[in-house]
Amino acid sequence: MNAAPRSEPVTFDLTGRRVWVTGASRGLGRAIALAFAAAGADVALTARSAEAVRSVAEEVEALGAKSLQLPASVSDAQAVADAAAEIATAWGGIDVLVNCAGVSPTFKRAELVEEDEWRHVLDVNVTGSFLCAQEAGRMMLDAENGAIVNVSSIHGQVGMERMAAYSASKGAVDALTRTLALEWAARGIRVNTLSPGYFETDMTEGLRGHRKWRGLLLSKIPLGRFGVPEELVSAALFLSSDASGFMTGANLVVDGGWTAA
Ligand SMILES: NC(=O)c1ccc[n+]([C@@H]2O[C@H](COP(=O)([O-])OP(=O)(O)OC[C@H]3O[C@@H](n4cnc5c(N)ncnc54)[C@H](OP(=O)(O)O)[C@@H]3O)[C@@H](O)[C@H]2O)c1
Repeated sequence: MNAAPRSEPVTFDLTGRRVWVTGASRGLGRAIALAFAAAGADVALTARSAEAVRSVAEEVEALGAKSLQLPASVSDAQAVADAAAEIATAWGGIDVLVNCAGVSPTFKRAELVEEDEWRHVLDVNVTGSFLCAQEAGRMMLDAENGAIVNVSSIHGQVGMERMAAYSASKGAVDALTRTLALEWAARGIRVNTLSPGYFETDMTEGLRGHRKWRGLLLSKIPLGRFGVPEELVSAALFLSSDASGFMTGANLVVDGGWTAA
């Protein structure tokens, strides 16, 4: 069933929506999880660190929302299936998945990248996104309703030296979005990509703290600064809510102008 058109004014209100955020323990995923809770949603939280997941769950509940703590690695198919089963048991289904878990552990020339380093990045960023989309998608297909947001990166579209594995993984996430969007559109599920530029999180700390690379990055950002996580959340809410009801297979870029330059 195609999502019905809406002609009344739409809001970002997510009251009663059941949302699963991966990579929710810190950085962009934590900010997105808290924004969903503030918008009225109940939030299931996944990351590897159980302690950090517990801490964010407390923040979610302090905002008046329900939370589910689902510590797991997104690249572990059984763990992802178990997490999805817990959501189904607790909430009976899911309305939104935000695939935000990701890694960028190396910054080195392509000829020096080790095979296990390459595989680790592809495993988490691509396979992890697919496994979570597959599990969430199965529940959404049953309900013929849902929205999936795949957090990619501008480096899915624009090259960056010393980021071969990461760029390749995010290009794959972009392609995965387009294909899932086509497959599932007629069955009520929208799938979109959210592509951040450079934000102030643990992931970018090393580059932002390095004089040469910091200067290079800032020279590529027309707005002249890095983003803060809270500046990404409205885009995530938009792609997850009825406000974007006629969007699927799209790539929403929030990058301070990098890819426009
Ligand atoms: N920050 C940026 O400027 C930027 C730019 C473009 C794209 N992105 C993308 O945005 C997403 C979030 O990035 P961030 O900056 O918030 O990074 P971050 O601060 O390093 O946080 C990464 C999150 O992913 C989780 N994670 C890592 N590996 C995981 C795994 N195998 N299974 C489950 N969870 C895992 C981490 O928790 P645990 O370590 O506890 O597992 C953490 O919650 C990533 O997909 C990243 O590629 C970020």
